[in-house]
Amino acid sequence: METLLTLQTERLLLRPFTADDRSAVQAILGDQTVTRTLLDIPYPFTSEDADFWIRAGHAGIQTNLLFPFAMTRRADGLLIGCIDIELQPEHRRGDIAYWLAPAHWGQGYTTEAARRIIQFGFEDLGLNRVYAQCLRTNVASARVMQKAGLRYEATLRHSTIKDSAFVDIDVYGLLRTDFPT
Ligand SMILES: CC(C)(COP(=O)(O)OP(=O)(O)OC[C@H]1O[C@@H](n2cnc3c(N)ncnc32)[C@H](O)[C@@H]1OP(=O)(O)O)[C@@H](O)C(=O)NCCC(=O)NCCS
Repeated sequence: METLLTLQTERLLLRPFTADDRSAVQAILGDQTVTRTLLDIPYPFTSEDADFWIRAGHAGIQTNLLFPFAMTRRADGLLIGCIDIELQPEHRRGDIAYWLAPAHWGQGYTTEAARRIIQFGFEDLGLNRVYAQCLRTNVASARVMQKAGLRYEATLRHSTIKDSAFVDIDVYGLLRTDFPT
């Protein structure tokens, strides 16, 4: 498989991150408006954290276990967020996740990217199952999953600790057999 692949949607180019994206990544993941609904992102999020995060993504690409894409606008090349799919190849399933700079929320960008990466998962990666998870309170993320075609499956009660408190996680998924061709 080609490692440095890109995907396109109507308004977006999804491309691999490069070292030059460090300050953009730091700006977005350094914003607690973004990270308060994410797990495992340190605060403050330093330039070194951004470097480490980009390198970890490249390591994932090398092993074909993680495909992180910078969400960039085709019109001007601006990096506005990230969408990724993490594989468990032994089960032919992939877990998608995403984040976006707040200035661009509510314009359908993440839904557009999620539809494309779901298609990538089924058609290019040959997955049998694509799913995503969010905090039960993360209405915007749940809405993205629904609009992208994932179906609500379950609530994992108190499955995770976030900011020293147990939180519920909602799971949305889709099987290959249900994916419209
Ligand atoms: C989740 C996130 C990626 C959504 O990105 P986005 O590009 O704004 O999403 P979209 O515009 O495609 O869709 C968002 C939908 O949620 C809805 N929404 C947003 N906030 C909402 C709220 N508080 N209550 C109800 N609906 C809400 C929007 O109206 C929209 O639905 P609609 O098209 O039916 O009106 C963005 O909010 C984000 O980066 N959040 C922080 C990081 C995060 O939580 N990532 C997901 C972790 S699981």
